[in-house]
Amino acid sequence: MERLAGKICIVTGGARGIGRAIAGRMAAEGGKVVLTDIDREAGQAAAAAIGCTFESLDVREEADWARLAALVPRAEVVVNNAGITGFENGPVAHDPEHATLEDWRAVHRVNLDGTFLGCRYAIGAMKAAGTGSIVNISSRSGLVGIPAAAAYASSKAAVRNHTKSVALYCAQQGWAIRCNSIHPAAILTPMWEAMLGTGEDREARMAAFVADTPLRRFGTVEEVAAVAVMLASDEAGYVTGTEFNIDGGLLAGSAASPG
Ligand SMILES: NC(=O)c1ccc[n+]([C@@H]2O[C@H](COP(=O)([O-])OP(=O)(O)OC[C@H]3O[C@@H](n4cnc5c(N)ncnc54)[C@H](O)[C@@H]3O)[C@@H](O)[C@H]2O)c1
Repeated sequence: MERLAGKICIVTGGARGIGRAIAGRMAAEGGKVVLTDIDREAGQAAAAAIGCTFESLDVREEADWARLAALVPRAEVVVNNAGITGFENGPVAHDPEHATLEDWRAVHRVNLDGTFLGCRYAIGAMKAAGTGSIVNISSRSGLVGIPAAAAYASSKAAVRNHTKSVALYCAQQGWAIRCNSIHPAAILTPMWEAMLGTGEDREARMAAFVADTPLRRFGTVEEVAAVAVMLASDEAGYVTGTEFNIDGGLLAGSAASPG
């Protein structure tokens, strides 16, 4: 059975990584997927491979969302996935003492402003039917402090909280428009490439990144897509305002626990 049969699904940042996997899985489940991304070339290629529609969309830009609203005025599923770490062009100081205001704002503009605009678009596209599912991709970093990536952690914590405001607002209006956040940790995607590098120590770096993860491995994009489909589907009809960790057990315990 196709779990998203006939549902119009918008996915941001769908050109690669987690967004691409979510778009592919949603299409496989019968969704009419509109894959969006700031990267037009990669986005078009991904959409062609999946067999879905592509629209260019920079999540930071209100005008882009207005254009999408004109093109796709109704949607049943919106996945706010586009995000950046701020380390895309190599290491930069993002700790609370040395991060520049410019770098801080650049991360929040994509991750937080983009999610705010995506949720606002989604409400407009769903309220006539009074039903729908918004899935916001936050992070494990939105649940704990990350000293070296303070801007990223702050933006993802805000995404988690805004998810709950959206969920409660929609419920207050009497709409069955659900909004939930997903919190992945260490999912092997191109986002990690700048941090892993290509040198001889790549394997050692990978092992170090997951050394504290109980399952001792990176997660896969398919594992995130499976949860996104579940939250998007009618099977999750009573699930709203909640958060779903996909972290190999990382947040289940504490390094400081006795024994
Ligand atoms: N990979 C992980 O380990 C991990 C862990 C936790 C959370 N996440 C989150 O999952 C989401 C996807 O991450 P990923 O690892 O697939 O990243 P990625 O870097 O592989 O892909 C991100 C995509 O977003 C697009 N994008 C960037 N800026 C954009 C903008 N302004 N407007 C529209 N599109 C834009 C990029 O072009 C790219 O296609 C992000 O929100 C990320 O923070 C990832």
